[in-house]
Amino acid sequence: AAVKTLSVATTTSVSRGILLSIRHYCKKTPAKLRVSEAVSGADLGAKVKVQGWVRSVRAQKANLFLHVNDGSSLLSLQVVASSELNDPLLTFGSAVEVTGTLRKSPHQNQPVELEAQQIHVVGECNPVDFPFKIKERHGLEYIRQFPHLRCRTNAFSSLLRIRSEAATAVHSYFKENGFVQIHTPVITSNDCEGAGELFQVENEEEENFFSVPAFLTVSGQLHLEVMSGAFSRVYTFGPTFRAENSQSRRHLAEFYMVEAEVSFTQSLEDLTKVMEDMFRSATEHVLAHCAEDVDLFHKHVTPGHRVSPEGRLFNLAIDILNRSSEKFAFPTDWGCDLQTEHEKYLVKHCGNIPVFVTDYPYDLKPFYARDNQDHPEHTAAAVDLLVPGVGELCGGSLREERLDLLRARLEEAGLEDTYSWYLDLRRFGSVPHGGFGLGFERYLQCILGVDNIKDVIPFPRFSHSCLL
Ligand code: 4AD
Repeated sequence: AAVKTLSVATTTSVSRGILLSIRHYCKKTPAKLRVSEAVSGADLGAKVKVQGWVRSVRAQKANLFLHVNDGSSLLSLQVVASSELNDPLLTFGSAVEVTGTLRKSPHQNQPVELEAQQIHVVGECNPVDFPFKIKERHGLEYIRQFPHLRCRTNAFSSLLRIRSEAATAVHSYFKENGFVQIHTPVITSNDCEGAGELFQVENEEEENFFSVPAFLTVSGQLHLEVMSGAFSRVYTFGPTFRAENSQSRRHLAEFYMVEAEVSFTQSLEDLTKVMEDMFRSATEHVLAHCAEDVDLFHKHVTPGHRVSPEGRLFNLAIDILNRSSEKFAFPTDWGCDLQTEHEKYLVKHCGNIPVFVTDYPYDLKPFYARDNQDHPEHTAAAVDLLVPGVGELCGGSLREERLDLLRARLEEAGLEDTYSWYLDLRRFGSVPHGGFGLGFERYLQCILGVDNIKDVIPFPRFSHSCLL
C-alpha cells in the first residue's frame, strides 16, 4: 500500500528518493534515472537504470569504462563494468540502457559512477559513417552540416539547453511583471513593418483560400496593440518570418521574436526600462541555471554589465560615427539608417556594453511610430538596443496614438483602408502606448558570444536553405 500511495507522487524529488529506497529494499525493478539525477549523488547505493548515448568507451584490462549522456545535463555518467560485458556494438554514439548500482567514484572530478551489472545496446552506431569522432573537437561550422545529428554534440546540446532555459526566463519575467501572454497569429494579412519582406501563404488546391492575400507574420506588434487596449501589458513570443535575402551572421528567414506592448507609457524611458529589466532578468536566470553549459562559451555579457541607463540620441550616434577615424562602408549622414558596422562601432565606443539609440529620423521608421513634434529635426520616438557582438538586438517605439496624425500618415502611404481597424483603436479609448521586439536568437548570440545566428536555433532557415 505504501508503494502504491507513493508512486502517485513520484514528481517531487523527496518522494522519488523514498520510492527509490523502497524499490531498492524490495529488490524489484531498478528505478529509471536521468543522468543529471544519477550524477547528483542523491541515490548512492541504489540499483538504477540509465538510458542514453555513449560519449566515450575505453576497455582497460579487466574493466570497461563508458560515458553515457542523455541530454539532461552537460555531464555524462561514468559507467564501470567488467570487460565481460564488452560488446563490439558498444561504440561512440550508440544508444544504451545500463542497469547497475550507483557508487562513490574514486575520481575527484567525477564523484559518482555506475557499476554496471547489465549493458544493453538499444541502437548501434557505425563509427565509420558517424560524422562525429570520439575525442575530436568539432567546430560549430562543421557540425552545422548535420542538422539532424548536431544535437548529439556537447556544444550544440548545451546551446539548446540554454535556449530552453532562456525561453523559460523570458516567460517568467513577463509573468512576474503582470503581462498577459497573447498568441498572435502566424498567418496574417498585414505587413506590419512595411518593408515588403513577406512570405505569401498559398493553398495548392484552392486559389485565394483566405479571399485576401495572406502572409507569414513579420511581427505580432499590431495584434499586440489590439490587446494592449484591453489588458494594458501584453507580450508574445513566437516564430517570425522575413524574406530577407541575406546570408549574414545575424539574419534568418525564420526567427523567434519576443514582443511586448505597454499601455499608458509616457516616454521612451518607460519602454527602455522594460527592455533593460527583461534583458538583465533573463541573463541572470540563464547564468544561474545553466552555469556548466554557459561555461562552454565565451560570454560577451556578464551579470556585472549594465545596459546603458540613459538613451543616446540618434544625433549623438551620428556625431560619434562622423568624428571617428574608422572607415565605414556605408554613409553616416543624418537621415541614413545605422548599419551593422555602425552599431558595432557605437557599442565599442561606449565601452562594449549594451546601449540604447533613440529618436531616429522619422522617415526611417514605419507608419506606426510616434512623431516627435517637439524635436528640431523630424524624428520619431523610436529606440534600438545595440549590444556587443551583434549590433541591433531590440527595436521599439512609442506608437502614434493621435488619430489625426496617424490617419494623415496612412493616407500619405495609401493605406487608410487597409488599416481602418487600426485607426479604430485610436477612435475608441486610445491611450499613449509603446512596445518593442527582441530577436531571441540575437539575444543568445550576444550572451554566449556565438558568431553565427545559425548556431543558436535548432533548424535554421535562410535564403537557399531549408534543410529537413
Ligand atoms: O526592429 P524590428 O524589425 O521590429 C519589429 O518588428 C517591431 N514591430 C517589433 C515591435 O515593436 N513589436 O525587429 C525586432 C528585432 C530586431 O531588433 C532583431 O533583433 C530581430 O527582431 N530581427 C531578426 N532576427 C533574426 N533574423 C532577422 N531576419 C531579423 N529581423 C529582425
